[in-house]
Amino acid sequence: MLVSGTGSILQALMDACAAPSFGARIVAVGADREGTGGVARAAAAGIPTFVRRLADSPDRFAWDKALTADCAAFEPDLVILAGYLKLVGSDFLAGFGGRIVNTHPALLPSFPGIHSVRDALAHGVKVTGCSVILTDPGIDSGPILAQAAVAVRDDDDEDTLHERIKVAERTLVVDTVGRMVRDGWSVDGRKVRIGS
Ligand code: GRF
Repeated sequence: MLVSGTGSILQALMDACAAPSFGARIVAVGADREGTGGVARAAAAGIPTFVRRLADSPDRFAWDKALTADCAAFEPDLVILAGYLKLVGSDFLAGFGGRIVNTHPALLPSFPGIHSVRDALAHGVKVTGCSVILTDPGIDSGPILAQAAVAVRDDDDEDTLHERIKVAERTLVVDTVGRMVRDGWSVDGRKVRIGS
């Protein structure tokens, strides 16, 4: 799993993985910056961690190559971007393409990008939510695995709305990843089917 923030989605998956019947194990947690809550949570649980900062590589290409090697060392079946704020590059996509899961706090294709909650509020939508997608080379543009809706309240600000979305997002990520690892999935163009 790759994180940039507090890691509450990571925590939800860690909790789910505690039950053997869930069918998955988190082999490592990586971050793009020092001091993330996500890495702290993983380290406290005895999960291997690493930090791969863009600033420590000569350019984006070298960084992406190094990140790919960091992850490949753990031989993951799935890579989960759980609040990871960097765009992965061509090496990473070549190494893990088709099995990189990303979660996004909006109902894609509406409001891609890192200010999706702010953008949805500014647009005045009455319903927003979260999307779990497969990562492709674009920004939040990959095939959609699952979505959940969240109603916008008149008095919401970016923080209150994002917190409510994250409640739905944690459940959606756990449910989706669990079904993927237990039942498999297939992709036909933009359409993804989990299970047979
Ligand atoms: C999630 O809403 C994710 O979609 C967004 O950042 C949030 C991560 O939250 N990109 P956390 O770090 O898992 O608490």
